Amino acid sequence: MPPDLSVLTALPPQRREPLEVVSAWDLTIPYQQFRAQHLVPPTLVTLLPERPATRRVYVVVNQKGGAGKTTTAMELAAVWVSMGYTVRVIDSDHQASLSGWLQPLYPEDVAPKDRRELTDVFYGRCSLDEATYYTRYQNLYVVPSTEELALVDLDPRVGKDTALRRAIAASQAPIDIDIIDAPPALGKLSINGLTAADHALVPLKVGELDVRGLGKLHATIRAVQEETNPGLVVRAAFLTAWKRSEYAREVAERVRADYPEAAVFTIRESVKASAAPKNFEPVRLYEPAGTTAADYDQAGRLLLQPKEITA
Ligand SMILES: Nc1ncnc2c1ncn2[C@@H]1O[C@H](COP(=O)(O)OP(=O)(O)OP(=O)(O)O)[C@@H](O)[C@H]1O
Ligand SMILES: [Mg+2]
Repeated sequence: MPPDLSVLTALPPQRREPLEVVSAWDLTIPYQQFRAQHLVPPTLVTLLPERPATRRVYVVVNQKGGAGKTTTAMELAAVWVSMGYTVRVIDSDHQASLSGWLQPLYPEDVAPKDRRELTDVFYGRCSLDEATYYTRYQNLYVVPSTEELALVDLDPRVGKDTALRRAIAASQAPIDIDIIDAPPALGKLSINGLTAADHALVPLKVGELDVRGLGKLHATIRAVQEETNPGLVVRAAFLTAWKRSEYAREVAERVRADYPEAAVFTIRESVKASAAPKNFEPVRLYEPAGTTAADYDQAGRLLLQPKEITA
């Protein structure tokens, strides 16, 4: 069954003027542009790709700043929307990079002070669905954040480990995939993301890799698996802004040893990729023929099969 948008009653009303919505078809990259550059271990190829039967929650996590978390969240969202899924990205970083990139479409009759964001969800002022907004992309929704989200990290009264998990579980919106963009810290927000997620995705920038940092992330993920979320799986690592080198190969091996259950994807560097957020477009639309878009496209398709639509 295609998603029934009438169920989105908890969402803010659509703007009254007709929207210039980008159709999912426009997010599709022609198949010929694929270039196999990913280091998917042969043992994993037999397991991939899968098609989730129920709603799936991913968290994109790494405490290192500038690792490619927001880019990975955005590009996978765009790939999976183009494959027929309804995707919601949850901006769990008070820098609000993802919100700035995706530009939520706030209803015009709601005053700016009444707009909802993730902080309101943590403080129990609204549900996750009430903080979910349309974007100009069909079937792509966003829960924005603002700098206020930094309060959640400081306030001991809110943001217990399971708060985001409970908020997602209570969501009624017909979302197939939630993607949480975690902040560059292993604080309360990243722990909430890891606790809420079925699958963790770890982007790393090879050139700036801090191996000790990788060990710390590993320990945090193991602690969450033991304490609050035994079902958490590290599904994939993304070596972002990739350039082929002996060191990069060693990093890929190290990641593979740390996360034997994960696929390791290389995302090649593209100069234009870093300009896409300023243009409020996924790299996929901003530079569709570029290496970054092609590599995320292939990674997204290796992780999931297109959604089965039975009309
Ligand atoms: N494949 C790529 N090629 C070129 N530039 C890239 C690529 N991936 C990411 N970048 C750029 O690297 C910078 C950091 O990426 P991004 O914002 O996604 O990282 P982040 O982990 O979310 O950062 P933060 O920790 O601050 O939230 C951005 O300017 C982004 O455009
Ligand atoms: Mg980010």
